[in-house]
Amino acid sequence: MDDQMAAGPMATLQDAAVIMEQGRIVWVGAADDAPAADDAIDLGGRSVLPGWVDSHTHLVFAGDRSSEFVARMAGEQYTAGGIMDTARATRAASTEDLVDGIRRHLAEMARGGTTCVETKTGYGLTQPDEVRSVQAAVLAGVDAVTFLGAHAVPDEFTGETDDYVDLVCGPMLDAVADQVQFVDVFCEDGAFNDSQARRVLAAAERHQLRTKVHGNQLGTGSGVQLAVSARAISVDHCTHLQQADIDALASGSTIATLLPITDLSTRQPAARGRDLVDAGVQIAIASNCNPGSGYSSSMALAVALGVLQCGLSVGEAVAAATLGGAKALGRTDVGMIAVGRRADLHVIDAPGPEYLAYRVGVPLTSAVWRSGVRVV
Ligand code: NIG
Repeated sequence: MDDQMAAGPMATLQDAAVIMEQGRIVWVGAADDAPAADDAIDLGGRSVLPGWVDSHTHLVFAGDRSSEFVARMAGEQYTAGGIMDTARATRAASTEDLVDGIRRHLAEMARGGTTCVETKTGYGLTQPDEVRSVQAAVLAGVDAVTFLGAHAVPDEFTGETDDYVDLVCGPMLDAVADQVQFVDVFCEDGAFNDSQARRVLAAAERHQLRTKVHGNQLGTGSGVQLAVSARAISVDHCTHLQQADIDALASGSTIATLLPITDLSTRQPAARGRDLVDAGVQIAIASNCNPGSGYSSSMALAVALGVLQCGLSVGEAVAAATLGGAKALGRTDVGMIAVGRRADLHVIDAPGPEYLAYRVGVPLTSAVWRSGVRVV
């Protein structure tokens, strides 16, 4: 991924070696030139990628929505209405159970090569339960936490969305601000409208927190353009884009995060990845692992769908799921195999990364290091 080392979206080196020390990458180059190291591992011609950076997940939850999925496959439409089912189960769960659930998912993700994970809150939707959600994410050891109090209007505020936004922007955000890195809002018909979303983003700015927007997931709308005008670090989903949305993204700095597993699982059209890249938009790809719209933590699948359904090249998709994810989290320490970065390495049992899409669905991960420690 280091364009100082080689050309192309993935900047690939052949017959290479990488040296890590104390959790960091300290040398990368041709194997023949590698300095001596204390221990050496021959990966037998396999490919080494940066660990996946999963910049959009919803891991703080309890409960099960498999019946909602079965109904959807039988023809029901996804409307995000099940968020409240998960909120009820999450409110009833102990904080320890929430931490256990996140840790189980983190272990599953590591087995698939994911080494840096963001999670959102957003299934508490009361002040105490949002605070507990943040605490659970921090205790479980995720890399970044995003406050998503504005995920849905909870039942007890039905018909009083503005009052709920007051709570989110005031006491709730005050209570979590010092433990989160980002604030997110679901800007969509049936969730929060443009002006309510703007209020959430403005409140985040008052706390000097970077912002994210769930936008254009279920239909065209103002989410993408709102995110660009508010200089959000990313706008996520971007499923239903019009040319004006692509133009806005191309003229701004907001990263378009594609979530192709969700588009597949909710039977939405594929996101216009090719058009975005051709327009010069910076993209990320993430799993959006959550119990409702797509319950998969597989970044390899998300990358394969980026290629097979969104029209990206393998290099563009892999870059979006590593360096793109790092940028969507404002991080310069992950997402790239380069000197000084965290030693997060993902070895796949394949001669080249194109196998991730070519052999879609086949688990290719054969070894994973996170911060220099072998975890798989
Ligand atoms: O990113 N869009 C909103 N939130 C989640 C899914 C929420 C759910 O259905 O539980 C998403 O798809």
